[in-house]
Amino acid sequence: MITSPLRYIAFFTIVFGLLFQTVASQAKTVHLRLDDAYLVQKNKSIEYLLNNCLSQPVYPGTIIASPSRQQPDYFYHWVRDAAITFSEMLTLYKETSNSQTKSALKKFIIDHIKLNQKFQKMPGLEKGLGEPKFRADGTAFQDSWGRPQNDGPALRAIYFISLYEIIENEGWSEGPGILQSLYESMLPANSLIKMDLEYVAYHWRESNFDLWEEVNGTHFFTLMVQRKALLKGAELAQKKNDSGAAAFYRQEAAKITPEIEKFWNSSQGFIGATRNHKAGIFKKSNLDTAVLLGAILGDAGDGFMSPTSDRVLASLQKLKEAFRNIYAINQNTAMAEALGRYPEDTYDGYSTNSVGNPWFITTQTAAEIYYRTYTSLKKKGVVKINSVNKKFYQALLGKRIKLVENSEIRSQNKLFAVILNQLLTEGDRHLNRTLYHGNKNGSLSEQMNRNSGYMQGAADLTWSYASYLSTYGQRERAQQR
Ligand code: NOJ
Ligand code: NOJ
Repeated sequence: MITSPLRYIAFFTIVFGLLFQTVASQAKTVHLRLDDAYLVQKNKSIEYLLNNCLSQPVYPGTIIASPSRQQPDYFYHWVRDAAITFSEMLTLYKETSNSQTKSALKKFIIDHIKLNQKFQKMPGLEKGLGEPKFRADGTAFQDSWGRPQNDGPALRAIYFISLYEIIENEGWSEGPGILQSLYESMLPANSLIKMDLEYVAYHWRESNFDLWEEVNGTHFFTLMVQRKALLKGAELAQKKNDSGAAAFYRQEAAKITPEIEKFWNSSQGFIGATRNHKAGIFKKSNLDTAVLLGAILGDAGDGFMSPTSDRVLASLQKLKEAFRNIYAINQNTAMAEALGRYPEDTYDGYSTNSVGNPWFITTQTAAEIYYRTYTSLKKKGVVKINSVNKKFYQALLGKRIKLVENSEIRSQNKLFAVILNQLLTEGDRHLNRTLYHGNKNGSLSEQMNRNSGYMQGAADLTWSYASYLSTYGQRERAQQR
């Protein structure tokens, strides 16, 4: 397919519209140098992310995982990566006040709806909606692969539900037609969101491949996003007077909850990644940053396994300790640990018979959890130290202060401010990995070499940018008074 010049024009219009706006809004406050560096990276991330979505020779609406076509070939539309990226596009769409930018993004959104419906209804897919990826020309990818991957439809449902709300609030002129194509109570399901919700509701018990596409089993990450999709889906169904469906989705979500609880390893104090291993690689430690991602992307807002909950913080602490020792670059303690996928990882971004490295998405996810915890504690005004979270907070404070189990640190206590401050600092110390290991021009690959720190794996990984934007957003939120 030929990229039309029009598409490039749309791309530049959007990028400049967004950049001008962020620069203008930031100019109002005085900033430290580091804040500026994070902001520059934000603007670069927007630019590169949109480049991957808007100016590629692809079927309209496609979100490629990376422009890299060989070594490795990531020039595909992965359902998971696309959904996570789409969520950031919706944020950009909501935040921009530039009307040209808004209408260009809107055009992409409409193409993206059509493309996903095409995928959902594509005949002959081996695993139906569990199909993990498609070719960039809008056709099926039929080589052997780890399938199904059932996080995809769940993530897609979550972000299309957000889109549904946007369209309703803004009253798009495309009107009821577009809303109907997104959600209609009719069965068998024919609308985008409902097709995904029905799939999730009927298939969540089934063994499937994890987000890293390597392990067939039951996964914390996948169940978390499935649960969230069903809860959000139930709200939408209720609003559409589809109350039978609402009750069904709520009921299935309620059944998922106790299944997720089982991933908590109380003797070792962390949430494991996988249970009921069926096939694919077996990870002895079961420690995996997929758990952190699951807590963030599967956060249904009801407190369950939230990214600031004790069990998630305990898991983060364990992961930091595990990766501290295996990556040489973590000996540089001027920054916090760079985190990889899991300790046993052998995928170096090109081949799987190598050694794994830290990734941008997983390291940024750690930063994001610190920022979110800051915001949550500030609101609560108290830190309760217990047997689950003690190691996390103790590590944050260092040896000078000794925390006691079952104690409460209230906002009047000076220690409370120290903890808050340390949370922001530790978040920044993780995020500094991105500034340090990323390219000077702001481009981010998938990984950074565990020994040299230089980037490797898929260049300009779309998800690296989406993840940076999500983390940056939480940092901004934490800084608001
Ligand atoms: C690409 C996958 O997405 C990655 O997770 C995996 O480790 C390698 N292929 C090897 O299967
Ligand atoms: C490999 C990662 O393991 C997987 O999560 C991702 O979907 C693909 N690469 C594409 O970025």
